[in-house]
Amino acid sequence: MSLNVPDLAESAFRPDLLKGRTAFVAGGTSGINLGIAARFVQLGARVVVVGRDAEKARAAAASLGAPEQALGLSADVRNYEAVHTALRQAVEAFGPLDIVVSGAAGNFVAPVLGMSANGFRTVVDIDLMGTFNVFRASHEFVRRPGASLIAISAGQADHPKTLQAHACAAKAGVNQLVRVLAMEWGREGIRVNAITPGPIANTEGMARLAPTPEANARRIERLALRRYGEASEVAECAVFLSSASASYVTGAVLYCDGGSGLGDASDRALSDGIA
Ligand code: COA
Repeated sequence: MSLNVPDLAESAFRPDLLKGRTAFVAGGTSGINLGIAARFVQLGARVVVVGRDAEKARAAAASLGAPEQALGLSADVRNYEAVHTALRQAVEAFGPLDIVVSGAAGNFVAPVLGMSANGFRTVVDIDLMGTFNVFRASHEFVRRPGASLIAISAGQADHPKTLQAHACAAKAGVNQLVRVLAMEWGREGIRVNAITPGPIANTEGMARLAPTPEANARRIERLALRRYGEASEVAECAVFLSSASASYVTGAVLYCDGGSGLGDASDRALSDGIA
């Protein structure tokens, strides 16, 4: 899946906005999170991308095209010690962390009776425990005041969806964890927020949730903005949340979803509303 990271010229932010800052992006070896890492690098940050597979992590960092600004490390976010080690290595390489993104996620489509307890737990472990592990372990490594912690959530946190019991439970937990951490760590000058992406083009998530052209067309017809988003559009939100422009924003869930969470905006839904 090739990621579309447009030119920096398309960013609303000034090119040196993140110069001198360090970011740690868990799950940053592909998809939306790699798009966030790419934009951070473009804006001058040093970025550590972390994924389960060491070779993939190295390749992802190399793909960012700025060897002195990018490092790839491996850790499974389900393993607290492994996450802690990766965070320590990141700080040894690039200095204290200004931005921590918890973006690793797992998903599959199945009804509750089609998943074992281990299947349910696997997604909760990656999404919810993973976010706990990344944020809890990063606390000692972040520069404060000024640190920005960002969880990548999902619409399943707010809207129950069949075949998604694990992701619904996990992401609802992520949003609440973000709010509690915002309250507990705000006094230290650490802000904690979440981004809820909608359907983003060329991601593994969409390949799993809308696997056919027909499923894609149905989804697009229901979206207020009538198109899938780009990874770079989520990345711009992450930059905003990490910038001084968001210095009074904490505990927020920022929706970058083309209106997806609002419900069905198709013509049929509109005419049903009139009838
Ligand atoms: N339907 C039902 N159960 C499933 C399943 C499916 N499609 N896919 C996996 N599972 C179950 C497995 O059967 C296993 O349970 P069991 O031991 O009782 O049989 C459990 O989930 C763990 O599977 P496993 O493959 O061992 O886990 P993993 O850690 O290697 O992979 C997943 C984690 C399952 C989330 C895998 O889909 C993954 O790695 N995803 C990462 C990428 C991703 O999902 N990106 C999209 C994010 S939105």
